[in-house]
Formats: sequence, structure tokens, C-alpha cells
Amino acid sequence: MPETYAAANAPGALPLVGHAWPLLHRPIPFLSSLPQYGDLVEIRLGRVRAHVPCHPQLLRRVLSDDRTYDKGGPLFTRLRDLVGNGLGSCPHRDHRRQRRLLQPAFHRTRIETYTHVMTDEALRLSTTWQPGQIIDAFPAMFGLALRTVTRTLFSSRVGEDDVAHLQRSFETALAGLFRRIFVPAPLQRLPLPANRRYARALTDLHGSVDHLIADYLSTGENAAAGHHHQDRQDLLSTLIAARDDDTALSDGELHDQVLTMLLGGAETVAAALTWALYALTRNPRVAHDLHDEVDTVLAGRPPTHRDLPHLPRTHRMISETLRLYPPAWLFTRITTRPLNLAGRYLPSGTTLVISPPALHHNPALYPRATDFCPDRWADGERPGLPPRGEFTGFGAGARRCLGDTYALAEAALTLATLTQRWRMEHAPGTDIRPAPLSAVHRPRRLLLHLTPRTPAP
Ligand code: HEM
Repeated sequence: MPETYAAANAPGALPLVGHAWPLLHRPIPFLSSLPQYGDLVEIRLGRVRAHVPCHPQLLRRVLSDDRTYDKGGPLFTRLRDLVGNGLGSCPHRDHRRQRRLLQPAFHRTRIETYTHVMTDEALRLSTTWQPGQIIDAFPAMFGLALRTVTRTLFSSRVGEDDVAHLQRSFETALAGLFRRIFVPAPLQRLPLPANRRYARALTDLHGSVDHLIADYLSTGENAAAGHHHQDRQDLLSTLIAARDDDTALSDGELHDQVLTMLLGGAETVAAALTWALYALTRNPRVAHDLHDEVDTVLAGRPPTHRDLPHLPRTHRMISETLRLYPPAWLFTRITTRPLNLAGRYLPSGTTLVISPPALHHNPALYPRATDFCPDRWADGERPGLPPRGEFTGFGAGARRCLGDTYALAEAALTLATLTQRWRMEHAPGTDIRPAPLSAVHRPRRLLLHLTPRTPAP
């Protein structure tokens, strides 16, 4: 690859805080503005200098060499408080073995099994809604996604109280975690209320996960069979079976993987669904096309995995949502050796910031980049998945999202189930500015007014 890339510094860094202000207050416009300065743009997170690859090929290079550009940097250092050495946060040296052990749980045939849960949970939610009701979309979608991931993880319904408890602990822990990227270390150790809340949320989450695993091990076929590799067709049984063989996962690793799945599989999906619902309220034509497809293909019955190939507009709608509103808006890497990138010398231990909006909103890559237009995906190479290349909503290379197919199936089935029954308009009080200090990109508050589309049965 020719070294014709240009490196630059983003303007406007302040002493001490660097670009923390725009990153906290208008993160998406700030990150989307970077490609105009160069292909590799230096920003400052507090005192830490970080480099943002803005050229798609440069970004590919970084993401496809996970030995040189390893997991690390401010985000993953903090994430390890939460998910320890799980698949998403572990360094390269532990990664391949873990990925091999977890991969079977995401096999296509397994995802088919999970789709029943996905539709079932969406239907359940839909039937609790009342005509004329106003719902707060993100908490509703977060609850839905968390119930879905716990049911597919543990193959049984986790109690509503446990889910609500998990949801609260996650919210507090994630807000605290993200603030910690920007707040200097000494302040984080003071016994301030926010620090205590964060510490308590972490203890809580770890306790809840231990409790869920212990429950799982002591019930059903696992206990009856007297050993652990009875396959219940869920995520956890795959992890436990992996624990029983030669390259076993330890108890601590099992714990970390469960938290990784809860963390990776709930907030991201919830944010994607919330933005998709928002986009529908803003784009009546898109909503009309979607309703039309859902009515024609499903004719009033709940969707199954067999319907997925027949819902192309639903998939395009989701692809476009993930492009324009990528839930994973910022993740980091750290260099493991000194190197030159785009003509810049980067010493070992340099932070790189990967930001999908920097690519997804670039008009040179996506014509009319700020418009929501699902039809741009009409000629996608892979049905149901956005084309490779510029799209980085799920990352790329060996560390690409393990749950991508899972997430796309869940988003499509949920969207189809909810829009089959309800028409939604955004209600006063909606504030779609990005939630501050949030690990995922989501609106602060999306209130939706519900009108039934078909008479209730
Ligand atoms: C729309 C929803 C989702 C989005 C936008 C998303 C995004 C991402 C991104 C960008 C990465 C790569 C991070 C990096 O390179 O540092 C990732 C990794 C990962 N995601 Fe997702 N994700 C989603 C849903 C899910 C779901 C549903 C699950 C599991 C049930 C999941 C599990 C994981 C795991 C385990 C990894 C780590 C993979 C590895 O390092 O080998 N994700 N995700």
C-alpha cells in the first residue's frame, strides 16, 4: 500500500482537557469533521494523544492487524473493570483461543434457535402497549434486548426483577465507565458519590452474574446429568462445554464471558432499535414501505427466521440506521511496537481511536451522507449485511463483532413485530441529542406515541 496518506492534528485542543469538551458535548459532529483535516488525525483525550484513522484503507490496516494494533487504550482499560479478560477486551495473545471456544454459540443454526426468543420477547412487549400510550423508547428497547440476550444465554427466562436490577446496574456502571475515560486517575480514587455509585454498580453486576451462573448450574439437565456439557442449545452451555475440554475456560473466564455477552448484546442492540424507530418517525416514506413489506410478507402472523430473507426493506432500514447512527461510536487500540503510519512516527503504546461516524458520515464515501436513505443498500453484496469496505459499525478483522448476525436478526425481527402492530410518532419531550457519557451512541430521550395499525385480535 503506498504511503500517500496525510497526517494532521485536529484543531481546537485545549490545555489539559484536549478535545474532551467537543467529545462529550457534540461527539458525532466532532468526529465526523475529522476527515477534512487528513487521513490520520490526532486528537487529545485529556493528556493522552490519540490518532483517528479517517481513510477507509488506513482503518482496514489497523483493524486487520490486531497483533500490532491490540485491544488497549483508555476505553479497554476501563472496560476491563467490568468484563475482565472476556472476548471483547482480552489482548491478542488470548483472543484466538477464546474466539474458537465461543464461536459455536453463534453458528447459523444456533441463531435460528434464538430467533424464537427474539420474536417472542418483541411480541410480549408489543402486547403490553396500549393505544395512545407514550413510551420512552430506549429503556423499553434496552429491557427487551437484555431479556432476549439473557434468555438466549441461559435458555430460560430470567426473573423480571433480576433483569430490572441488571438494567440499573449496567446503566450506572456504563455511565461511570465512560466518564472515567476523560477524568484524571487521581480524581477517580476519591470517595465521591459518583465514584461510590460506580464501585457499587460494579460489585452488583459481578454478584448478579455469579448468581445467574450458579442458578443455571444447579437446575435442569446440567444438575440432573451430573456434569456440565449437556447441550441446552444456549450460549452458556457452549461456554460450559468449552470449559470441560482441554483448552478449558476457567470459572473467572466464564464469568467474564457472560458479562461480555450481556454488555455487548444489550445496549448496542437497544440503541440501534431506538434509532431505527426514530428514523421511521422522521421518514414517512420509509415507514410506509416497511409497513407494506411487513404486511405483505407476514400477513398478520409473527415473523420467524424463515421470513428473514424475504424482508429486504427491513434489512436495508437497519443497515442505514447502523450507518447513520452507529451505536459503537468510539473504540480504542494501542500499538504494541513503534511504527510509522501515514508518515507519522507512533511509539509503542500509542492510542488509536476508531470511530465509525468518521467514515459513515463522509460524503466522499456516502453520497448525501446526512440523509437517511435505506435504498443506498439495495445492491449490497451480502443480503442482510451491509457491504464491506467503508462500513465499520461492527468493527472488522479478527476482532469483528461476534454477534453481528445475531444482532441483525434480532433487529429485523423486532422491528417487523413492533411495526406490524403499531404506528409511532415522536412525542413532545423527545431530545435526540446523543446521551452524554454514554458508551453507546443513543438519543437522550425518544418518546413515542403509539397508534394501533390493525385492530387488536
Ligand atoms: C447493533 C448491535 C451491535 C453493534 C453495533 C456491535 C458492535 C461491535 C463492535 C464495533 C465490535 C468491535 C469492537 C472493537 O473492535 O474493539 C464488537 C465486538 C463484539 N461484539 Fe458486538 N455489536 C452489536 C451486537 C452484539 C451482540 C448482540 C453480541 C452478543 C450477543 C455482541 C458481542 C460482541 C463480542 C463478543 C465482541 C468481541 C469480538 C472479539 O473481539 O472477538 N455484539 N461489537
